[in-house]
Amino acid sequence: MVCGQVLKIWLITVIRSEDGFFVSEFEKDILCIGAGYVGGPTMAMIAFKCPQYKVTVVDINENRISRWNSGNLPIYEPGLDEIVEAARGRNLFFSADIKGGIRRADIIFVSVNTPTKTFGAGAGMAADLQYWERTAREIRECSDSPKIIVEKSTLPVRTALAMEKILTAENNGINFDVLSNPEFLAEGSAIKDLEDPDRVLVGSRETPAGLKARDQLVEIYANWVPKDRILTTNIWSSELSKLVSNAFLAQRISSINSISALCEKTDADVTEVSRAVGMDSRVGHKFLNASVGFGGSCFKKDILNLVYLCRHYGLEEVADYWDGVLRINDYQKRRFILEMLAAMFNTLAGKRICMFGFAFKANTGDTRESPAIGIAGRLLEERAELVISDPKALENARADLKGIPGKVSYEEDPYAAASGCDAVAVMTEWDVYRELDYSAIFRSMSKPAYIFDGRNILDHKRLHEIGFNVFPIGKVALTHF
Ligand code: UDX
Ligand code: UDX
Repeated sequence: MVCGQVLKIWLITVIRSEDGFFVSEFEKDILCIGAGYVGGPTMAMIAFKCPQYKVTVVDINENRISRWNSGNLPIYEPGLDEIVEAARGRNLFFSADIKGGIRRADIIFVSVNTPTKTFGAGAGMAADLQYWERTAREIRECSDSPKIIVEKSTLPVRTALAMEKILTAENNGINFDVLSNPEFLAEGSAIKDLEDPDRVLVGSRETPAGLKARDQLVEIYANWVPKDRILTTNIWSSELSKLVSNAFLAQRISSINSISALCEKTDADVTEVSRAVGMDSRVGHKFLNASVGFGGSCFKKDILNLVYLCRHYGLEEVADYWDGVLRINDYQKRRFILEMLAAMFNTLAGKRICMFGFAFKANTGDTRESPAIGIAGRLLEERAELVISDPKALENARADLKGIPGKVSYEEDPYAAASGCDAVAVMTEWDVYRELDYSAIFRSMSKPAYIFDGRNILDHKRLHEIGFNVFPIGKVALTHF
């Protein structure tokens, strides 16, 4: 079993409703609007751990809801199938009835997407809050009893104030308490992160009503998270902490990636540097793996948002500092392509390149902001022919590259994918790529054969001995020329 045994015993009170049906009564009725990567797994965990609550997840996307109700969940996440299976139909429900869900709920989590704005003021930087605002209005219109509204989506600081204004604009006498409860789960390890989080953050107004609402949310998490890991703050600190957490994590990756460029010039080895630096307990060893660049739906979006906020408040130097994290990330992706070009005699036209991995990280099928997308686009511009392989992300890869001119094929089996290719480029750190028979792969490839290891996961010395020309990140290339 992925998660620990649920020890709590609960009572379902069976009562007779006005229209004569028997209905079950749970201690709380929890609703989540937005059945995405955040809303789905988070609610599945709450339902799994707290059978005394009824948890309903709604979404405007009916197709997504049907998949949550099927054996083929809309997202891949290790351990998710098991907890959904255990709770679905018991106290976990997926539904497209948003209005009914709102009416019945005591607590509403809002987990709709807040992408970067693509139009108007703040385009390319600010968060696009249109879905979020629409949701707030819908909550107001459908509510006929007091509710606690929990911001789960990552939002600019002081958004809770705007939410309060929308919710109370009609002055219909209904009380709404807005809390901030940002999600820190990482994809690929979401179930572990939810089950055993470093911390749960709950921000509230410091009024008697705000503190009472906060205690109700804390009580939910306290069903399985030790109290000393449930952190309560004022609502603005909570909103900002989410942006800053992601900015700090991304900053570490950009820091080591910037050093990887220097390592390549000085014969230093970035893995050794990262180990030496990370062993200082003040620095710590996590998030210091040099790579082809970070991806995912959060880092870029949240840093852009932070930069926009800083500029809004006239903090130009602070904005520039954080913007640098994104500039290094773009630089790292560009460097990777330029290295491929230079190594392969400055022409990729007609060459077959196999991409090992398309997801933005291992153990997920998610490709949002994956470095592989931009790199594939650039390789196609150079008129290379691409063969894309990934254990879980081929469906998304097809959608990402749809309409981009050029020759692309998709092949899950890495051996078949690499066969006949000139080069393999490792884009995602899936374990499966560490364990392949590279002698067989070498034999099946066109010569000279190249490996560009964008994740530094392979045994470079061994690959060189086999005959490959090997180009890691932040280490001397091993070639036969
Ligand atoms: C999203 C945001 O990207 C992130 O900023 C935030 O921290 C949490 O929510 P994620 O769950 O990964 O993260 O997004 P996504 O998988 O796109 O899910 C959002 C869901 O909301 C989608 O299924 C979408 O259909 C739904 N949605 C969107 C609504 O139900 N109503 C809307 O008005 C808009
Ligand atoms: C991140 C945060 O970790 C999480 O707390 C937040 O809630 C959402 O954003 P996620 O984007 O799912 O989670 O994955 P994460 O593990 O943080 O990886 C982000 C990107 O950084 C990936 O592309 C990953 O491959 C890359 N990465 C990570 C590196 O390049 N090097 C590292 O050392 C670590």
